[in-house]
Amino acid sequence: MTKIGVFDSGRGGKSVADRLTKLFPKVEIVLVDDSENMPYGSGRPSEIFTKTDHAIQPLLEAECDAIVIACNTATTNAIVDLRKKYPSTNFVGIEPMIKPASKMTRTGVVAVLATPSTLKSHRYQRLKRQWASRLTVVEPDCSQWARLIEIGESKRIDVHSAIREVKRWEVDVIVLGCTHYHHIKGRIEKEAGPHVRVLEPSDAIGARLDSILRLNSVLPE
Ligand code: DGL
Repeated sequence: MTKIGVFDSGRGGKSVADRLTKLFPKVEIVLVDDSENMPYGSGRPSEIFTKTDHAIQPLLEAECDAIVIACNTATTNAIVDLRKKYPSTNFVGIEPMIKPASKMTRTGVVAVLATPSTLKSHRYQRLKRQWASRLTVVEPDCSQWARLIEIGESKRIDVHSAIREVKRWEVDVIVLGCTHYHHIKGRIEKEAGPHVRVLEPSDAIGARLDSILRLNSVLPE
């Protein structure tokens, strides 16, 4: 049976895996996390690589047809080295959707909600230079969010203040650049109001997987 592996440091992977289960009902979805060692979001790139490499071993052993790194922090800091170390594995990364946001915005101001290590990464900085050099990108402090969501304390996140700050800038697109935040997308949308688009990547990942599985002739009919 065709298998897709999904990895996140914690609960973020579940939101992506649930969507993939709907999109690929005949494919086995194998989900792993590293909740003991999360959050990854303030770590250095070398630490993030080491933890991710260790945590995905069961997916490599299971010979998944593709492995989704359903973690923006791990993708932006470690996917290049993972691809080098495992050249025959199909890795699909998740990184902040700056490109679609840049095409959608009318005000020229977008917000990216992400962990500190994602925001600092070379890969994210390059994405911003490539797609957002003429835009204003607002990056509110979300450094505690993933941890609170992981421990089931998302009520303690002050979504209201973060989005109020963002709206002061006339942001019209908000990018969810951490898969943990998918779990509070409804709250973010409510605070942002009907004129602000909130982007998350699950469907784009589905489309990418579809083409990889087709290319390798392993997409079930
Ligand atoms: N879910 C991860 C992401 O998409 C981050 C969570 C963490 O800090 O470990 O970036």
